[in-house]
Amino acid sequence: MNVNFPGPMPRSRKGVENVDGGPPPLDEAKLEAFMGKVVEDLSGTMTTFFCSIGDRIGLFRDLAERGAATGAELAERTQINERYADEWLRGLTAAGYLEYQADSGRYALPPEHAMALAQEGGPAFVGGPYEMLPGMARTFDGFIQAFRQGGGIPQQAYDSTIWEGMQRFTDTWFENHLLQEWIPAVPEVEAKLREGILVADVGCGSGRAVLKLAEAFPKSRFVGYDAFDGQLSRALANAKAAGIGDRARFELLDVSQGLPEQYDLVTTFDVIHDAIDPLGLINAIRRGTKDDGSYVMLEINCADRHEDNIGPLAAMFYGFSVFYCMTTSLAHGGKGLGTCGMPEAKVRSSAPRPGSPVSAGFRSRTRSTSSTRRSRRGATAGPAIRGPRDTSGACIYVRSSCAGSSRSRSPSRFASNRAWPSSSARTDPASRTSPTH
Ligand SMILES: C[S@@+](CC[C@H](N)C(=O)[O-])C[C@H]1O[C@@H](n2cnc3c(N)ncnc32)[C@H](O)[C@@H]1O
Repeated sequence: MNVNFPGPMPRSRKGVENVDGGPPPLDEAKLEAFMGKVVEDLSGTMTTFFCSIGDRIGLFRDLAERGAATGAELAERTQINERYADEWLRGLTAAGYLEYQADSGRYALPPEHAMALAQEGGPAFVGGPYEMLPGMARTFDGFIQAFRQGGGIPQQAYDSTIWEGMQRFTDTWFENHLLQEWIPAVPEVEAKLREGILVADVGCGSGRAVLKLAEAFPKSRFVGYDAFDGQLSRALANAKAAGIGDRARFELLDVSQGLPEQYDLVTTFDVIHDAIDPLGLINAIRRGTKDDGSYVMLEINCADRHEDNIGPLAAMFYGFSVFYCMTTSLAHGGKGLGTCGMPEAKVRSSAPRPGSPVSAGFRSRTRSTSSTRRSRRGATAGPAIRGPRDTSGACIYVRSSCAGSSRSRSPSRFASNRAWPSSSARTDPASRTSPTH
């Protein structure tokens, strides 16, 4: 017997009546299409859990390194239970992640899929989110309570596995984009880094950006600040392992209270939209930046209007928002901007303005060439907030894409609109550092 999920579609809606007393028309094709989407999404969730397991216990790595396997071979090679190995292989084959080889009875991980699932640190690697998601799910009851009562969940209440997952997640950025695209996009910053300057990375997390920069620019000195000791301890351990010496150090500090000195360069990677007080943090960063210094901000590329954030990538970012970014800020009565809460217009309007106590040095550049010229002529010393087309200046608003993601779930259109995680390290016309105006 074949059983359909969720079963035959109803021909009418019982109990819901039109004004003329008849049942409202039901667009059966729309219902069918929507149920197809629901099944696809439920299937995606199950597949993601399979992937989290495969990532955690090294099943993808094994298939990538040792080649196709039967359930018995995979079980033997990875020391897992054979019955579970069989079902995992079959489930991921059904999902299109693995390929069954009928002649040998083995299951293969195609090399293209291995790039995403098994190539740690590679440009397409997605093991980070696979590690984060089960950790987030462990906080499920807390989310239910927050939905009912407001407030949020502080970082320290999360399962500690999410910090390792987050490090693996953002490692793909720092390994593949930081030195290849983001820093070269601000050449004067790159030049100063080469000469040797003092740099603060605010919200440094596990410190990977600092360590990458310190390795690349040995004449510069770096300090990573983070307000959460669960992250800072990871940064300290990573620094020790990297043997970077006194070129990079890390301190526990809520930077919205101020930086201890002034820096030539301040960076924030994926931090401002998470902050309890984003404006306070930006102002503190300005106060802690020398007048001829620079500020580099990485934020998520989302639309100015939330209704323009459409498609699977946007939906995923809203998930990260509720399950981490927004909720950790709201836990402290914060602004809770969320993952999609720092679009370009907000970045621009958040730059300290002339007349405010911290305005000197910030200048905003607009998209028109003439106003850019004007801005250059009348430039005040110091950092600038500018859009991604204008990548030659002191402050780059680096974007990872969300807005404009295709409504279509077609992989090719989806891929062409995404930068996270990028399938290559080059600058894609529609990707994170690409111009949009
Ligand atoms: C999403 S994580 C990003 C971490 C790191 N930059 C990366 O990309 O891997 C944001 C980090 O910002 C930190 N943070 C948020 N507000 C902060 C503040 N006011 N001062 C210092 N750190 C802050 C959080 O504790 C968290 O570790």
